[in-house]
Amino acid sequence: MSILVFDSGIGGLSVLREARILMPEHRFIYVGDNAGFPYGDWEEEALTERIVGIFEGLIAKFQPKMAVVACNTASTLILPTLRAHFDIPFVGTVPAIKPAAERTSSGMISVLATPGTVKRDYTKKLIGEFAREVDVRLVGTTALAQFAEDYMMGRPIDETMILNEITPCFKELDGRRTDIIVLACTHYPFLANVMRRLAPWPVDWLNPAEAIARHGLSLMQGVEPDDPNLEEFDDLALMTKTIEDRSMRRLLTGFGLRVLSLN
Ligand code: DGL
Repeated sequence: MSILVFDSGIGGLSVLREARILMPEHRFIYVGDNAGFPYGDWEEEALTERIVGIFEGLIAKFQPKMAVVACNTASTLILPTLRAHFDIPFVGTVPAIKPAAERTSSGMISVLATPGTVKRDYTKKLIGEFAREVDVRLVGTTALAQFAEDYMMGRPIDETMILNEITPCFKELDGRRTDIIVLACTHYPFLANVMRRLAPWPVDWLNPAEAIARHGLSLMQGVEPDDPNLEEFDDLALMTKTIEDRSMRRLLTGFGLRVLSLN
């Protein structure tokens, strides 16, 4: 029995990193749907069908004790469907609008996400529920997740293009300006240092990974830990498309994951 951590690509490693720190006694299986990456522009019905199909296979094969959907684009779309379909606890990753609204001093926050996350009813609901008094700017970007993957794999990135993607997050109005940017895609924390350096003014880049891991930990109270002496205790990375890219393999093995192909 393991904990599944799922994303469209390798961004969910930002959540896995925190989950392992808080739950070292549990074994993890990281699943990256690299064949479907990027999720940002997928049509909702097709994406729902795809992810439910992947989970059907995963749950039958591994009987996990919990699944962490380490992807905002997926979580804001299919959490209720997954919970209705499968009898295991699911932890989702949704834009950290509530903590940002509670912490902002200027009353102006931005949510940096994929176009999919930005257009979801779920995201609008979060704003209506928790940030009605706050000026929330939603910024959807198609390119940034790929830039994050490139950066993580040691490929060159174009900083001018990154600056162009993040510039709409910075808003000034009547002497006030954006002071918090919610990283609402699990890929973006890996670019945080680059974005911090390029930013027109200092802001708090809110990374929800630790909070997600804490939620997972709360659901694992009283659940039997895995036996670290078993060979199968090794954490795995399962990708939906065979990795031909040496740098991706290197990144995953560098995270201590034994890399296998899902199919
Ligand atoms: N990491 C995913 C998220 O949190 C999205 C990356 C993508 O597939 O575009 O939204």
